[in-house]
Amino acid sequence: MIFDMDLRVIDALWFILPAYFANSIPVNVSKIKKLEWLGKPIDGGREFLGERIFGDGKTWRGLIFGVGGGTLAGLIQQNIHLDAELFLSSILGNRLLTLPQMTVELAFILALGALLGDLVASFIKRQSGLKRGDPAPLLDQLDFVFGAVFLSWFMLYKIDYPRFYVLMVITPVIHLLGNIIAWMLKLKKTPW
Ligand code: CTP
Ligand code: MG
Repeated sequence: MIFDMDLRVIDALWFILPAYFANSIPVNVSKIKKLEWLGKPIDGGREFLGERIFGDGKTWRGLIFGVGGGTLAGLIQQNIHLDAELFLSSILGNRLLTLPQMTVELAFILALGALLGDLVASFIKRQSGLKRGDPAPLLDQLDFVFGAVFLSWFMLYKIDYPRFYVLMVITPVIHLLGNIIAWMLKLKKTPW
């Protein structure tokens, strides 16, 4: 129902949470000295049509920890499902609320899809002549959601359009806020 917009937002967020984790972990682990050896670029420095394939901002470290962290988030979601439903329903005035079922498999696919989407976006940016970290509005904010939703649809043949539309709207907002905070904390060089 149209009036249950808050429930739609919660539903969409619960579904996409592993992808959000996968997308935000890489920049945070990039500061860890002990993981430096895993910080090699995925493209190995190679070029395609005179431009780097992905660039130095896409590393194995980010991919491994992003997928691992996102999957772990999903495992936790799977285990706290009932408690989360009860808690959210109670703070929402005891309205009936059913969260989408998270599984480790789905979380893995969402996390992997998120980082593959991010790679595709970097490829597009490099081919367009944009350097690492240059802004590509909307592409930067939605690449990982497209990747996550696409891969889960491709692998599990499930897509919920209302959920997808909600994500398209709320993700750029949340993503931008998160990045501005990370930038203010000096975790990120640019606020996008
Ligand atoms: N990162 C990483 N490995 C990934 C993805 C991200 O190590 N697979 C880290 C990098 O330190 C990167 C940071 O997370 O700089 C932020 O990611 P993002 O904003 O997507 O990359 P950009 O540096 O802006 O590069 P691009 O222009 O290719 O988007
Ligand atoms: Mg990006």
